[in-house]
Parts: sequence; C-alpha cells; structure tokens
Amino acid sequence: MEDNRVIIFDTTLRDGEQAAGVNLNVQEKVQLANQLCKLKVDVIEAGFAAASPGDFDCVAAIAKVAKGTGTTVASLARTREADIRAAAKALEVTDKARIHTFIATSQIHMEYKLKMTREQVLNEVRSGVSLAHSLCKDVEFSAEDASRSDLAFLIEVFKLAIECGATTLNIPDTVGYAVPDEYGAFVKKVIEGVNAPKNVIYSVHCHDDLGLAVANSLAALKAGARQVEGTINGLGERGGNAALEEVVMALKTRRDFYGLTSNLVTQQLMRTSQLTAKLTGVAVPPNKAIVGGNAFSHEAGIHQHGILANRATYEIMNAEDVGAIAAVLVLGKHSGKHAFKDRLSALGYQLSEEQIEIAFKAFKLLCDAKKDVTDADLEALVIDNILGI
Ligand code: KIV
Ligand code: ZN
Repeated sequence: MEDNRVIIFDTTLRDGEQAAGVNLNVQEKVQLANQLCKLKVDVIEAGFAAASPGDFDCVAAIAKVAKGTGTTVASLARTREADIRAAAKALEVTDKARIHTFIATSQIHMEYKLKMTREQVLNEVRSGVSLAHSLCKDVEFSAEDASRSDLAFLIEVFKLAIECGATTLNIPDTVGYAVPDEYGAFVKKVIEGVNAPKNVIYSVHCHDDLGLAVANSLAALKAGARQVEGTINGLGERGGNAALEEVVMALKTRRDFYGLTSNLVTQQLMRTSQLTAKLTGVAVPPNKAIVGGNAFSHEAGIHQHGILANRATYEIMNAEDVGAIAAVLVLGKHSGKHAFKDRLSALGYQLSEEQIEIAFKAFKLLCDAKKDVTDADLEALVIDNILGI
C-alpha cells in the first residue's frame, strides 16, 4: 500500500449501532452495508458475532453481500476463544475477512473491569491473537482505552500482538479523553516504541466525549497512523465516534497539509448519511459539517454576493464532491439585492432597476414576517407589487 493512503474503517454497523436507542435488523444492516460498499470504505465492521444470534446473522449476511466487492468485512471479538471462533464462522463466506480482537490495557480497566493483572492481559493477547491468526490471515488487535494506558506496557502488548500475527494495531481513545496534540504525540511514541515491520498498520479509533474525535483522528494520522475508524454522521456510544465524512473531507480539502488520500467515493457521502439517519432514526442536525442540510446554504447578503461572484469566497468544498446540491442561497432578511435579483431572474422575471427597488422593499417587509422566503413567496410578491400595478 502507498505510504500516503489512509484505510477507511467504518464501524457504523458495530460501534455506531451501540448508540442508545439504535437497533438495526439484518435487512437494514445489509442495506446500509451495500451503500458503504458504494462509498468504497475499505473495511466494514459488520458487528460483534458473539454478542447475539442476531448479530452473528448480520455479520454473516454482510460477509455474503460484500464478497467480491473488494471491501473487507470485520467482526469484533474479545480475546476469548468462543468470541474468536464465532467471528471466524460468521465471516467464513467472504473472500476478505478480518477478525478484530481487543482487550483493555489501561490500569483502571484491567483492575476494575477485567480484574486481571498485566501478566494475565498479556496471556489473553497471546492466546486470542494467535487463535484469530490461525483462523483468518487478517487480524486487527485493539488495546481498549489505549490513550489512558501506560506507554511502556502498551508497547509491550503491541509487540506481542505482532508476534502472534496481528497486522493492524489499533490505538483507541475509548472514552474520548485525549486532546489532539497529546494524542498525536502519544501515537508517535507508540509507533517509534513498537518499531513494527513495514506491513503493520497503525489505526486510530476516537470517541467524541469532548467533541474532539475528528481532531484527534487527524492528529494521529499526521503522527503516522494509516487507518482511521469512525462512523457515518458520528453515530455511536455517548457523544459518538469520529464522523468519517468529516475526517475524509478534511484530508481531501487540506491535502496540502496532511498529504494523505483515501479511496472513498466522496460523492456518495450525502446519500450514505441520509440512509444512516433514516434507518437509525437519528436525525442529522442542520448545521452538521459536510452532510447537514445547511452545510452549503448561505443567507447573509455579503456571503451571497461573494458566492454569486465566485463560490470559493465562502465555500471551501464543492457541494457536488459530497453528493449535496450546489450552493443554496437562502433568501431571508440577511440577503442582499444581488441574491434577490439573481433569484428573480432564475424564476424568469427580468425587472427594471425601478421595479427591483419596489420588489426588494416588499421583500424586506415580508422577511420580517417570515424566516425563509420561498420561490412561491417571490412569485406572489412580484405579481402583487409589480405585475398587478
Ligand atoms: O472504543 C473502543 O475502544 C472500541 C474498541 C472495541 C475498538 O470500540
Ligand atoms: Zn469504540
């Protein structure tokens, strides 16, 4: 793989589905997985095969539809034998399968959740990763709560995971505690400390508890990670996961800074976002970056004037590049005469300067009574104030 290509690992169907109140059935998951294949994510984490018979069926069904598409299908598994065997079984129908096994490595998780010593965790890594590797050639190992783990211990764990066959090492910020500069520096130290062979890829997986998941993911990519895990619309537990559409468009728009690319067909982002919202019932806020309904709308007169002269004045991306409709100039009380005149001529009204003045005054009065003025309102306004005179 080229050094500057980032692997996009989508976990909408696994970590995203862990969002409170979200529950997708097999048909819905398959529908979304088909769309994720069109988006050309590199890896779809389809579920946690050992979690329930329903989740097993979802992983198996997605493995079946993804076969031959070039997309890898992953199942999550703890380091336990039963989990790993269930993951391997659910994935057996596809040609590109990955077992994603994990165990926590932070002191607080080992002591209070796992009730294990460091030695016991190392033994789990040894047995879990080795078994996964004997069943599937593509194995990812995640050190849960890595960002709060002791650096030297984390490095020891990762070295062992490589020895046992893992080729992707994930450094999650499980509880969204990290901040970008610190996390980037931490990832760099992990990469230097592990000193892995060239075929090993470092991955990041950030949660959004402090609203920093995307910023942390980008900092980790800058530090050398080459796989990013996230979800569509940032769906996920608590504050959610890193929003993949934001990470990918940041890489694309600021390629000058990151120097990184992905294989994503970004024109499919809007459709994927809307399908995710529809199936999960979690609406996308209008001001959401990239895929929100207002992401390419402009209301302020000065902005509209700029956009009409040259879109780059107030748009850093083309709406078409994310599959959205090109710049919408919302007519409201902040709009100026330029945008008003432009919309009237798009509606087929070529008015004199004097008529424009009259209509514009009527328009401003209407704006005080109504938040957004529609094309139908404009038609009525021209008929009442100009044509009717
Ligand atoms: O947040 C997390 O640490 C996870 C792991 C299982 C990768 O979701
Ligand atoms: Zn997670």
